[in-house]
Formats: sequence, C-alpha cells, structure tokens
Amino acid sequence: MDDFIRSRLIMWPFYDNIKNKLFPMNQLFRRKSVTILLAEASTDEHKFNRALTAKNLITLGIGAIIGTGIFVLTGTAAANYAGPSIMLSFIFSALGCVFAGLAYAEFASMIPIAGSAYTYAYATLGEFLAWIIGWDLILEYLFASSTVAVGWSGYFVSFLKDFHIIIPQALCSAPFNHIPGQGWERTGSLLNFPAVALVILITALLVIGIRESSRFNNVIVIIKLVVILLFIGFGISYIHPENWTPFIPENTGIFGHFGISGIFTGAGVIFFAYIGFDALSTAAQETKNPARDMPIGILWSLVICTVLYVAVAAVLTGIVNYKDLNVSAPIALAIDRAGDSLIWLRPFIKIGALAGLSSVVLVMLMAQPRIFYTMAKDGLLPQAFTVVHKKYKTPYITTIVTGAFAALIAGLFPIAVLGELVSIGTLLAFVIVCAGIIILRKTDPDAVRPFKSPFVPLFPILGMVICLAQMASLPFDTWMRLIIWMAIGMLIYFLYGKKRSKIFINQDKQSEK
Ligand code: ALA
Repeated sequence: MDDFIRSRLIMWPFYDNIKNKLFPMNQLFRRKSVTILLAEASTDEHKFNRALTAKNLITLGIGAIIGTGIFVLTGTAAANYAGPSIMLSFIFSALGCVFAGLAYAEFASMIPIAGSAYTYAYATLGEFLAWIIGWDLILEYLFASSTVAVGWSGYFVSFLKDFHIIIPQALCSAPFNHIPGQGWERTGSLLNFPAVALVILITALLVIGIRESSRFNNVIVIIKLVVILLFIGFGISYIHPENWTPFIPENTGIFGHFGISGIFTGAGVIFFAYIGFDALSTAAQETKNPARDMPIGILWSLVICTVLYVAVAAVLTGIVNYKDLNVSAPIALAIDRAGDSLIWLRPFIKIGALAGLSSVVLVMLMAQPRIFYTMAKDGLLPQAFTVVHKKYKTPYITTIVTGAFAALIAGLFPIAVLGELVSIGTLLAFVIVCAGIIILRKTDPDAVRPFKSPFVPLFPILGMVICLAQMASLPFDTWMRLIIWMAIGMLIYFLYGKKRSKIFINQDKQSEK
C-alpha cells in the first residue's frame, strides 16, 4: 500500500502538468475587472442608440413579463398543485424574483453592459463560469421566445376559429411530443407555422431598430394591461367566495400535490410568468441613464406584474373552482363561467393574449443577440457576432441567427418541454447572479455602485434559497436536459472559446514581451 502511495506521489507532478494544461485554473477563473468592463463599454458608446428611458424600461419589462405564464399556465398550476393558494405561489415566486431583481439592478447600474448575468459572472466568478451562464442564458431568452411563440400560436388558431377560419392541426402544432416516462413520439404534424411566422416577423422588426421596436412594444403593453384590468375589474363581481375554501386543499399524499408543498410546486410552475424582468439588464447600453433607470425599470415592472398576477389568480379561482381549471385558456373559461353578461370580453381577452405574448417574444429576441454580442466581443463566440448594422445600429447578424434558431425550435417542439427548460435555466442564472453580488461586495468593495441592493448578504441568500427550492420542484427529465445542455456548452468552450478568449490572448502576448 505504501508503495502504491509512493508511486502516486512520484507521478503527482506529471498529473499536475496535464491538469494545468487542460484546466488552467488561472485562465478558467480569470476575472474581468469592473474598470475594464466599463472602459470597454465606453468604446461601444457610439455604436448603440441611447434611446431608452425609465418609463420605456418599465413598459419593456411588463412587455417581457406578462405572457404565457398568466394566460396559459395559471390554470393548470392551480388545478394540479396549489388550488386557490396559487395566490401564495405567485407571492413566493415573486419574492425570489425581487431578491434576484435587486441583485440584477445593482449589477446593471454598476456594469451597464449588454451581457447581463454573463457579464456579471465574468466580473465575479471568472471566465469559465461566465461562459457557463452565457450558455445557460440561451435557455432563458432564445428558448423562451420559442416557448411563448408556441403559446401565441395556440391563441392565434383559436382566435381565427372564432371567425370560422380553421388552420389544420398538422400546420399549427409540433411534429414532436414528449410523454413523461415514455419518451419522444412523432405527432404526424408538419410544423407549427404560426409560431415560426411570428418569430420571423419580430426578428425583422428588431433588425430595423430598438426605438421602433420599443414603440411597437408600448402599444402592445397598453393593450394587454387594459385586457387584464378589464378581467379583474369585471370579474370581481362574479366571484363565489366558497370557491376559495379550502384555501390550501389537503395534500394528496404525493409531494407537491396540494398542501404546503403544493404551494412550492405551484411556484416552480408559475415562475415562468415572471421571467423577463431580467431581460431589461441587456438593454443597459441603450438606456439613457442606466444607473437610475435600471433599478426603476426592473423593480417597478416586477411589482406591477406581481400585483396583477395575484389579482388575476384571486378572480380566476374565485369564479371557477380550481378543480376545473386544468385548461389551456383559463381566463377565457372564467369569462364563460361568469355568464352571458361577460361574453363580450372574450374576444378582447384573446386579442390581449395575442398582443401580450408577441411583446414577450419581442423582448426575449431583443435580449439574446445582445448577450451573444458581448460574448463575441470577449472572443468566446465568432467575431461576426460583434457587427452592428451601420444604418439601424442593431446587432443584426446575431439578431438574425437568434431568430432563425428560435423559429426552428418554436416550429418543432411542444410548449411544456420548452417551458420547463426555460424555467430551470433562468432559475440557475438567478442563483448565480445572487451569488455574484455577495462575491463582488467582497472582492471589489470600492467599486462605484450607483444602486446598492439592501441587506446583502441576506437578500441574495434568500433569493438563492427560493430559486433553488423552485428548481428542486421541477421534474427529473428537465434536470437531465439542463445537464446535457450544459455539457454541450462546456465542450464548445474547451474546443472553441478557451483558445480565442481575448483575455487569454492578451495575457499570452504580455507574457511573450
Ligand atoms: N414571463 C413570460 C411569460 O409568461 C416569459 O410568457
């Protein structure tokens, strides 16, 4: 045994050598200082239009947040997991988002660069983890735009049906479906054409320019807010309070099926409804005064949406018994149940949902190219991704690449698989951003922080705990997909990005001198 240990010890320098070649810790965990990040941002100044104000950011935020979550997922979450206490799930999930939102606001005001969580990780946790989170953000933004486009397609088809225009199932649904426990199957459909068309249309709009897109977004946000307020305002008088008892239905014996654990699983499912506020941080370079406007934009859009969500959940579960809510258009069902006097609201709800969902796709498709742009500037992605259009001043190549992939995914896959993947990816990003705030306060205590999250480290720790609890409530299959996605990301980093990293190349040049 002694000999064995001795021979291992002799070999140790050899192992160390190989390990350092493959995983050179000082490169993998090399950080970009806040000063370097800000200097880089100022050289970009002339490229982007600084057009967005705090008000624009709030509307962009609401535009990104209110979508499939409230229009589609609330019903199933109440019916399967939480009952009327879905209202508490919304509050629990919002709390996690507020803690993460404060961390995002601190970072975005401090490092107003388009890369969002990717950039923050580069400043705090080093290049490798920054790449990991950048790769993870594709799950959030690119995949979320596809998910919501699929939700939009469902509403679009049903809206046309009200006018007796029928789109054949084979042309408006995914050719692949996943049955839990059984695997993937072919559905016989060709492609979800309406979802693909929406993504292409919005991509074209984004290539033309941010100001124009922001105007389009403002109109849409107003429509969806009016529709939601109409539902709450008119729905209140049709509430039957007995539908709220029991407020927390008894647990069925299975974790997450009602009872207290159901509130948490419900939160994991409806978390999707809050995704989007963080997308604002990717517009930091296009914001007039990011130090002031970013925190306002992030926190206000979150607060407004939370209040609306809890109110919608209250009215919904008050009109319809939670057991009947397992439908894809729960709000439309509530209107039907309210009786003939509310039937006029039905087409408006569909128009509101269509408008609402398209603005979510817009913000998600706007955020992704800006993250690719920042990663490419660091050398981790091809340099073509850094090109900004001369006339439109938009990162048009990344916008088109993102749009093409998002359209393909929206055309091929079902909403449930995509939605859970987006949620787990986003929750992971939130956990890392919360950790990043605590780390940066320690490693760079003197950096200028125009906005400071209160109660650090308590708030970021609470944010991490709440987000991890929601991740834990998601199915095993979703965890596996996350792990596979991350493994692909690591492979790309080691085969492509690591060698081309700008920091690495600069460091190499300096050591040659
Ligand atoms: N929060 C967005 C939605 O619910 C992603 O559609």
